[in-house]
Parts: sequence; structure tokens; C-alpha cells
Amino acid sequence: MKKIIKGGRVATAADVFEADILIENGKIVQIGKDLSEVGAEIIDATGKIVMPGGIDPHTHLDMPFNNTVTDDDWKSGTIAAAFGGTTTILDFCLTAGEEKLSAAVEKWHDKAKGKSAIDYGFHLMIGDLTHETEAELPQILEQEGITSVKVFMAYAKEFQATDRTLFKAFKIAKDLGAVVMVHCENGSVIDELVEEARRAGHKEPIYHALTRPAELEGEATKRAIELAHIAGATLYVVHVTCKEAVDEIIAAREKGYDVYGETCPPYLTLDQSALAQPGFEGAKYVWSPPLRPKYHQDHLWNALKAKQLQTIGSDQCSFSFKGKKQLGLNDFSKIPNGGPFIEDRFSILYSEGVAKGKISINEFVDMISTSAAKIFGLFPQKGTIAIGSDADIVIFDPEVKREISAKTHHMNVDYNPYEGWEVTGEPVSVLVRGEYVIKNKEFVGVLGSGQYIKRTLKTTAAEALNI
Ligand code: URP
Ligand code: ZN
Ligand code: ZN
Repeated sequence: MKKIIKGGRVATAADVFEADILIENGKIVQIGKDLSEVGAEIIDATGKIVMPGGIDPHTHLDMPFNNTVTDDDWKSGTIAAAFGGTTTILDFCLTAGEEKLSAAVEKWHDKAKGKSAIDYGFHLMIGDLTHETEAELPQILEQEGITSVKVFMAYAKEFQATDRTLFKAFKIAKDLGAVVMVHCENGSVIDELVEEARRAGHKEPIYHALTRPAELEGEATKRAIELAHIAGATLYVVHVTCKEAVDEIIAAREKGYDVYGETCPPYLTLDQSALAQPGFEGAKYVWSPPLRPKYHQDHLWNALKAKQLQTIGSDQCSFSFKGKKQLGLNDFSKIPNGGPFIEDRFSILYSEGVAKGKISINEFVDMISTSAAKIFGLFPQKGTIAIGSDADIVIFDPEVKREISAKTHHMNVDYNPYEGWEVTGEPVSVLVRGEYVIKNKEFVGVLGSGQYIKRTLKTTAAEALNI
């Protein structure tokens, strides 16, 4: 029942200090030097960093998309997340047209039930707002403890909302105190560019990037910012990839607009040339928005450092190369959009960020866990190491070197975009509410033990983040 994590270096978004942590009934009950407690299991963390579990605010598990379905479901996805140091995910619950929102949420609960090895919550997608769905929205958010909705400005043939719906979503969310997450790309113009490229006979994966220019991400970001501002809503821009979008977010934040932003590991570390590899290899790097020319990476790192972007999502949306990415062998527009990142989000950011001196360990914890907890209403239950918080804890070896490979990862996909990369640091043990999910690099968790977390926003993102 009781555990003491002993001898580690505890890192939160604010501090680093040597201390033991006493866990009882899933909660952190004491933090201090030389703790002892009769009957407690001792976990030796000497030489390790002890951090709050990662919170991944952007996943798509078991999601139908682009005429297929993602390869990681709630079992493989959450096991992989746990290996990677993530203890809570927030997944996007899709909705469709006139379908009742309650039915959509029930469907998402069914996907996770009995499978999730870690804790989770949902963001609710808003597509077409009908009188019925609009009327249902307040009740479903309240009842389900959902504090965030999602609107797509892209994917003209699947999810794209009109500007009018986007604006209505902002107004409704403002009234309900919810955060609006937006995929900012101009989907209609992209659709036109894609058709032009296909008419010109272009088939290769690189055309995915060439038909989704950064200007169209910047333009949509600016549009979302202004609409959110007019409506008085809180905007969270998902998967920011480029200077054009970063500049709009910074300009808005400097004017005092209530705007936040997330980026993802591949945009910080990979670039557009990956899509131009010979053969069909580039298909492994097709997701949206696309990878950008390398110079954009500095803008993203700088914005993270300056807290103009606050979080790192994985945008986990995995499709195997064989059978799934290959759907677009003769037509780049048919390559399913998305990549497998739920497992390596934490390691890539630590290795490329902290180990290479770009960010401090406190900034790392903030980006990988604390800020998401604050923006989405999980804090202080999650996202920190403090008395009373859930004992969601990663015991991390900062020295070990490891090679990323599809041969050893735990995601249900046949490739890894970081194949062959050597990373510094690895989670050794991971606890969710005081129970081991990963113990000495082995999965020991229980499928279905992950709890659905109802969230509330007692403070606004601005108050909680204090930036
Ligand atoms: O390509 C991506 N990102 N797939 C997932 C859906 C989305 O846009 O987030
Ligand atoms: Zn998106
Ligand atoms: Zn996504």
C-alpha cells in the first residue's frame, strides 16, 4: 500500500531538490529527507531524476481517419505511452454530423474501457453544430468533466468546420469556460492545391508538404486567433509547426490575447527533406501540418523557451507503412495522415532539449506535464510532485543511452520515424496513482486500470500558468 521513493533528485516545473517521496493510497503524502515508514516498499532512485508523469494532451487512439483506422488502440497505445514516461493522455473524441454527442462520448469510453493502462480524459470535437448538438453541449461537458473542445480548420473532406461553426464554438466555449483547441490550416485552399498537384500528375509523398505551405498554417492561425478574441474565448493552437504560426501567436499574446500553443517532437527535430526520400519512404513522414524546412525548428525552440508555446503533444496517430501508408502509393493525397510518437515524446524532448542544453529540466517538466495539466484542468491532481497530488511518477535515468527502433518500441506500427536515433535518458519505472505500470523497464501494469479523469477549470489557463 505504501511506497517510499528514496534517494532521487526530484524535478518539478519550479524546483530541483533531493528528497524522498512517501506514497499512500495512490497519493503523495510526504516529501522530505530520510523518510521512513513501517511496512513501506522502498524504491531506490539513487542517481535518477524523479519527475511528475508525462501528460500528453494530444493523442488519437483507435481513431477512424482517411478511410482507415489508426494502428494503436487503447491497449498498445497506453502501454507504449507508459514505457515512454506518460501517465495521462487526453484523446480526441470524434463526433459526426447529427450523431448525439452523448453517443460519441460513449463510443470513446468503450474504446478505452478495459484497455487503458494509464489515466485519460477526452477533448470533444465540434464539427457541424446542429440545434441538437448545440443544445447538448453544455450538459455533456459538465457531466463528462470535459474542459476542452476541438475544431479542425483542415481536412475539407472529413472534419473541417466552417468559420461560422468555429466562431460559434468559441462563443459557446467562452460561456462554458472551456478551452478551444484548433487545428490551424486553411483546409479549403489546401484541397485546391492538392487537386492541382494531382492534375499535374504528382504522386510522391513530398507533395503532401508542398501542397500545405506554412503560409496557410500562419493564415489559419491568425484567423483562429482573431475569431477567438472577438468571441472572448481561450484558444489553444495544436501542433504548431512554423515561424508563420509562431509569429501570429507571439503577436497575439503580446496584445494580451488568451492564446496558447503546442508543438510536437517531429517539428522540433525532423524536417521536410524526410518526405523527399527515394522510393516511398517519405510516406512514413506524412502527417499534418507537414514537416517544414529545418530553419523553422529554431523558431519553435525559441518560442518554447520564451513560454510563447507551452506544451508538447505527441499527436500520436499511427499507421503502419505496410498496408496503411501504402494506401497512397500512387497518390500522395491518399497516404493516411499521422505518425507514431506517443512513446518517444518524452525521450526525444529530454534528449534533444535537456541533454543538449536547449532547455532546463524545469522547463522540460513544464512542457511535458505541468502546463498541460494547468491548461486542461488536471492541476494539481496531476502534473506535479506535491503533497496531495496523484502519485503519477517517472523515475528517469538521465545518463543511459538508447537507440530508438521499431524492433524494440511498443507501439503497434512497423516503423519508427526516429529509427536509429540515439537518445540520452530513459524512464526506468513509471507509477500511476502509486502503482507500478513500468517496473525496471518491464510492463507490469493492468489493462483497464487507467481511470477516466473528470476535469474542471477552477482557474483560467492564464491564471494557472501565470505567464
Ligand atoms: O496528421 C495528423 N496530425 N493526424 C492526426 C489528426 C490531426 O490533425 O491531429
Ligand atoms: Zn490536427
Ligand atoms: Zn492530432
